[in-house]
Amino acid sequence: MTVTDLLDALWRDYTALTPQAARIHALFAARGETIVNDHVALRTYARPGIGIDALARPFLARGWEPREDYRFPDKHLRARYYLHPGQHADPTLPKVFISELIVEELTAPAAATIDGLVAQLPAGFGERDDLPYAGRPWTVDHATYRRLLDESEYAAWVAAFGFRVNHFTVDAGRLRTLDGLRAVNELVAGAGFELNREGGLIKGSPADRLEQSSTRADDIDVTFADGTFRVPSCYYEFALRHALPTGELFQGFVPASADKLFHSTDARRDQ
Ligand code: NI
Repeated sequence: MTVTDLLDALWRDYTALTPQAARIHALFAARGETIVNDHVALRTYARPGIGIDALARPFLARGWEPREDYRFPDKHLRARYYLHPGQHADPTLPKVFISELIVEELTAPAAATIDGLVAQLPAGFGERDDLPYAGRPWTVDHATYRRLLDESEYAAWVAAFGFRVNHFTVDAGRLRTLDGLRAVNELVAGAGFELNREGGLIKGSPADRLEQSSTRADDIDVTFADGTFRVPSCYYEFALRHALPTGELFQGFVPASADKLFHSTDARRDQ
């Protein structure tokens, strides 16, 4: 599997679960824009064999390199991002942002629930080359999903969807007909898509060197062990990077902003 094969597979899996993504993509294309992705984001549980390192392996094998670690104490998450050195020559190579839930920091019942899911994994599952889009490898019922949701939106999302891209992110700095995230947001909201308002429409500032906004995840039908229920799937993100004093674009992430963006899949938003 080449780099292009991997990225195509991730995009196919993501758009199948995220009806809005192809429509927003078409919205930009209709203006003559060619979309370049800033990063793709994946989620997992910090459990042996399926944590950040396991999810990163297929990317490392294809040239991506680890760059920086982050910690989100309130959400019990760790994250790391990976950069492909070929990005300078080929800007279509996105960064990869992988986070993992620190299961030990949850309550004992929630941790036991997650361990029950992980116990269903077939031997060698975490070594699959297609792990980043392997999907949900366990059976889970909706009541279990709801119980996890009470404690951690992130835990519930991974339980429902398993291993796949959580969001793609448009590099807004490469859009020619839209100047800044406010213009991007107006276009997307004007077409009827709901934006994540947690912490304001635009997270981060030029001083942070990174501004981000995102849609709200689509609710889609998901098959649980006890029936089909509508739950939030994936969202689409927009990132505008600013230059460092060196003149180079900032490539990292801003934890305070990422913390707000995690709410884009929050099923509890209407409560
Ligand atoms: Ni992101």
